[in-house]
Amino acid sequence: MKKIPYAILIAMILGACTDQPAPVESPDTSGRAWWKEAIIYQAYPRSFKDTDGDGVGDLKGIIEKLDYIKSLGVNMVWLNPIYSSPNDDNGYDISDYRNIMPEFGAMADFDAMIKGMHERGIKFVMDVVVNHSSDEHEWFKQSRSSRDNPYRDYYHWWPAEKGKPPYRWSYFDENGDAWQYDSLTNAYYLHYFSRKQPDLNWENPKVRQEVYDIMKFWAEKGVDGFRLDAFQFASKDTTFPVLPEGYEKDVRNVIKHYGMGPHLHEYLQEMNREVLSKYDVFAVSEGAGSTFEDAHALVDADRNELQMAYHFEGVGLASSLDGYKLSDFKEVYSRWDSAFAKDGWLSIFLANHDNARMVSRYGNDSPEFRDVSSKMLNTFILSMRGTPYCYYGDELGMTNIDFDKIEDYKDIAAINGYKKVAKEGGDLELYMKYLQFLSRDNGRTPMQWDTSENAGFTTGTPWLPVNPNYLEINVEKETADPNSCLNYFKKMVKLRKDNPVLVYGDYQIIQREHPQIYAYTRTLDGQKMLVLLNFSEQNADITLPESDALGEVLINNYESVERSGGALSLKPYQAVIFSVK
Ligand code: GLC
Repeated sequence: MKKIPYAILIAMILGACTDQPAPVESPDTSGRAWWKEAIIYQAYPRSFKDTDGDGVGDLKGIIEKLDYIKSLGVNMVWLNPIYSSPNDDNGYDISDYRNIMPEFGAMADFDAMIKGMHERGIKFVMDVVVNHSSDEHEWFKQSRSSRDNPYRDYYHWWPAEKGKPPYRWSYFDENGDAWQYDSLTNAYYLHYFSRKQPDLNWENPKVRQEVYDIMKFWAEKGVDGFRLDAFQFASKDTTFPVLPEGYEKDVRNVIKHYGMGPHLHEYLQEMNREVLSKYDVFAVSEGAGSTFEDAHALVDADRNELQMAYHFEGVGLASSLDGYKLSDFKEVYSRWDSAFAKDGWLSIFLANHDNARMVSRYGNDSPEFRDVSSKMLNTFILSMRGTPYCYYGDELGMTNIDFDKIEDYKDIAAINGYKKVAKEGGDLELYMKYLQFLSRDNGRTPMQWDTSENAGFTTGTPWLPVNPNYLEINVEKETADPNSCLNYFKKMVKLRKDNPVLVYGDYQIIQREHPQIYAYTRTLDGQKMLVLLNFSEQNADITLPESDALGEVLINNYESVERSGGALSLKPYQAVIFSVK
């Protein structure tokens, strides 16, 4: 059993980073596309709205809240997996790719939901989880039943007479071991995630054809986009060589040795030919490899593979209990922007279902600064180049729930991680501190709609407790308050939608060394905006050389901005965007 330091362990869950220097390029605005202009709202279906009182969100709940989603101004929705699943990993373990999980509803609800979205001008992104299936999928049941079953090669098996296979790390296994012995056929099967998530064998053309047929099935139903879960792992070196000693100390090696396999691009080009090119859809890869070269190979237009990727370096930053450095934050986002200034397209996000709450990690969730720092972070996401992904509840400034007992957690990553640390005699107190700050359950608590019981999420017992701060932080209250985080979010969304400069404009960081303020300009066709973000809880001064050029304030999370000529003083977590003449 290998020991992996907690910080690395958490970073592995969050993904790898890329550190190549990048040339600064001028922007390419020729390739405009609807999916570049989209603003995506991600809803975790289990936690959004329950309509039948079982404590679990459902599709009827999404339908009920479509007008709310529309009112945000966003124009695309991504839902985490809604297929049939035994829920070992909350739907990321699929047992039937053409059916809806009964807890979430039925196919008729899906059809009504997508119709309701389209009627409102909202597009829909489907999560496609095909690096692995559930062990309860019929393919796996067949595959494990005998060595000569026609489905045997749908998964990766290692016959036990060859000895134990070379060690592979598993994200969710309580022993950290990705090979699970199965006595039925005296063989091991591979699972990078939980034992109930066996990895599919992408080298098998039949598997790939099954996946394309599934994608076509959903495209025919009107799906507008696909999010390819854990896709960088799909193609692997199936000789499973022994990995170099100590490789796990560098997070980037995990992707290098575990994924981005020899045939990944071939398979993506095939997927593009067979599915993506036949519909008006886009596809985004979870993960961008371990170098910029990898990321470009996934998304550049002339590659005919995917349209967008998301890298994890930004969300990987705040994975230490000591917080993160603004200088690193600026460096990461500037480096990625310049690497993609000419070709390719990325996603911008600071939270999702695999991360703790945005404001708790990157802002300040104390009562004094929660609202204002949430607004500042939303300003960042919505003013950068790339397609913004806004996570449900972040428009309200929802915070971490800070569970203090392992029994409170529902996430397999947290529970099995705890068992692993306990078995190894590790520091459980420290592990609990990491969980409290970084656990995925922090980001999965029910949506806070109003001040009624369970925040209006359910009339039953919620599957994960509602954050007690719902009496303060909820849609009803924030809708009524013109200065709320919610109303600010809507303004910021509108600003982006009304100004293509915020989508396509060239990005230039200014005063890079400023210890508190992240400042950058966006420029397109003679239009220019200046974004000033104070990432600290103190006032911050900045002097801009060309003060005459400053035009009107386009958005501000305070009532005013203190200014004398080019000298500005920003309040704690103040965010201001100026037009520049
Ligand atoms: C992706 C998903 C995560 C899931 C894992 C296994 O990283 O975002 O939630 O647990 O894949 O499917």
